Amino acid sequence: MVFLNGKLLPIEDAKIPVLDRGFIFGDGVYELVPVYSRLAFRLDEHLARLERSLAETRIRNPYSRAQWRDAIYRLVDAQPFEDQGVYFQVTRGVAKRDHAFPKDAEPTVFMMSNPLVTPAKELVEKGAVAVSAQDNRWLRCDIKSISLLGNCLLRQASAEAGATETILFREGKLTEASASNVFVVKDGVILSPAKSHLILPGITYDVVVELARANGLPLELREVAEAEVRSADEIWVTSSSREVLAIVTLDARRVGEGRPGPVFARMYRLYQEFKQKVMRAGKRDAVTA
Ligand SMILES: Cc1ncc(COP(=O)(O)O)c(C=O)c1O
Repeated sequence: MVFLNGKLLPIEDAKIPVLDRGFIFGDGVYELVPVYSRLAFRLDEHLARLERSLAETRIRNPYSRAQWRDAIYRLVDAQPFEDQGVYFQVTRGVAKRDHAFPKDAEPTVFMMSNPLVTPAKELVEKGAVAVSAQDNRWLRCDIKSISLLGNCLLRQASAEAGATETILFREGKLTEASASNVFVVKDGVILSPAKSHLILPGITYDVVVELARANGLPLELREVAEAEVRSADEIWVTSSSREVLAIVTLDARRVGEGRPGPVFARMYRLYQEFKQKVMRAGKRDAVTA
C-alpha cells in the first residue's frame, strides 16, 4: 500500500496528473525515514527537516506535525514487514505549466514504504569503494529537493566504476557524497564539514556527532581540505539507509590500512547500540542519545 493525498491505496492505483509540478519541474521536497521494528528512527528530526525544506521552497505544508506522524504510521502499519524505509514527498501541486508559482494549487503528498536495506554484514566488515568528483550541484544543497539530477549524474559515475559512493569536492574542500554525508579521521580526530548551504543537514550526521560528543571522541566540524581527505586514516559515509559505512578505497587508492579503522569500529558499535536503545524504549516518540 502507498499513501497519496490522504488515502492508502495499492501502488498500481496511485496516479499523478502529468501537470504535477513535481513531474514538470522537479518542484518538490522529500524525506526518507528508516523504521526499525515499526518504530520510525528520529522521526521528529526528519519532520523538522521536511518543514524547513517546505519553508525554504515556499511550498505550503499541508499537514501539522501530528498529522504527518499519523499518516506515516498508518503507512508503516499497512506493510507486512518490520524494518522499513519510508519515503515521502510533497510537490507544489498540479497547475498549467509556468515557472512562477500557481496561486491556488494543492500540494501533492505521496508516501511509500519499502523493506529497509542496510549494508550487508560483509560490506560493513570489509568496507566500501568510492570515487571522487567535482561537486557541480546547485548552491542550495541544504534543501532536500526532489530535483536530484546533479546527484544522479554524480552517483552514476561511481556506479559505472563499480563503487558504492561518489565523494564530492567543491573548490578544494570536501562537501558530502552523492547520497550521504562524509566524515574522515586523521590522527584520531573525526572531521566533517560544518553544516552550510553546500551540504544536506543529515539526520545520521547529527546522530554521529551526538554519539562522538557523548562518548568523548575528538570531533571537529570545519572546512575539510581535499588533501586531508586523500591522506585520511579513515573515511566514512553516513545516511539513513547506509547508517555508518567505512570507505576503504578512494579513486583506486587505499584509505589508511585499506580496511575499516578502529574509530569506525567504535562509532559503528555506538550507532547500533543507540538503535537498540531506541527499539527497547519501544515508543513512537523521540528518544535521545
Ligand atoms: C546528498 C545527501 N547528503 C546526505 C544524506 C544523508 O542524510 P540522512 O542522514 O538524513 O539520511 C543524504 C540522504 O539521502 C543525501 O541525499
